[in-house]
Amino acid sequence: MTETLKDILTHTEAGVLTITLNRVDKKNSITAAMYAAMADALEAASGDSAVRAVVIQGHETIFSAGNDIGDFLKRPPSTPDSPVFRFLRGISTFPKPVIASVCGPAVGIGTTLLLHCDLVYAGDNAAFSMPFVNLGLCPEAASSLLVPQRMGYARAAEALLLGEPLTPETALETGLINRIVPPLEANALAQRQAHKLAAKPLASLIETKRLMKKGNAAAVAERITEESVSFGRMLSEPAAREAFTAFMEKRKPDFSQV
Ligand code: COA
Repeated sequence: MTETLKDILTHTEAGVLTITLNRVDKKNSITAAMYAAMADALEAASGDSAVRAVVIQGHETIFSAGNDIGDFLKRPPSTPDSPVFRFLRGISTFPKPVIASVCGPAVGIGTTLLLHCDLVYAGDNAAFSMPFVNLGLCPEAASSLLVPQRMGYARAAEALLLGEPLTPETALETGLINRIVPPLEANALAQRQAHKLAAKPLASLIETKRLMKKGNAAAVAERITEESVSFGRMLSEPAAREAFTAFMEKRKPDFSQV
């Protein structure tokens, strides 16, 4: 296993790059350094002919609690080159197949990054949530475009305005994931599928993915940029400060004044 950073492990074998979120004690919440490590890994893999497919995985109990709230407070992403935005650009334009294995909670970007994966396998303990409004924020990763497209406006409104978690069954029914399996089997299934893909002709995989994504590519890039501007501004506004401070102080946020 190659260690880019202990919280993000990367490993390439038989054409498959595996990126593992490895910060289980903090529920795989993602710091700027972790975004940078993932962005670097994707950037390198994009032009590396030894990589033909990518797997992103967490632990059987937790995929990711989303952005590390304390780190976000200390180092809010302020420019398009901020690690989180580099990661989003990298995953949303990655030319080769990306497979995710998701068990346990997938919060915020833990769910929205899945919209840019080609195959998603979930443990039956998975819970997908996008609680941006509950944090005084707005959607990111083009989720304001892709979630309504994927699941229809009614379900998107429950997920994005109410911030209600989706069960694995709803995620399957609405096309967010491909299959539900026992948690201990999810990572192995993702690996098997990735190795099947890695055995196929790379140019055909790349061209097929490009053609499937072409209709939405410009709109996705534009929405990521627009959301990033709003998200960055809202991070320093009173509602997000209150939500994040409340999280750190382990209390309920009080939005009555914002
Ligand atoms: N940022 C920073 N730290 C986080 C975190 C986050 N997003 N999510 C969890 N942690 C930390 C907790 O502060 C706690 O740290 P401590 O042990 O030092 O107190 C540790 O991870 C365990 O979290 P805990 O909440 O006790 O675990 P849980 O199993 O009860 O709940 C979650 C798991 C994922 C449901 C819950 O942690 C959660 O809702 N996290 C916040 C998700 C969120 O709002 N993300 C922001 C998206 S922009």
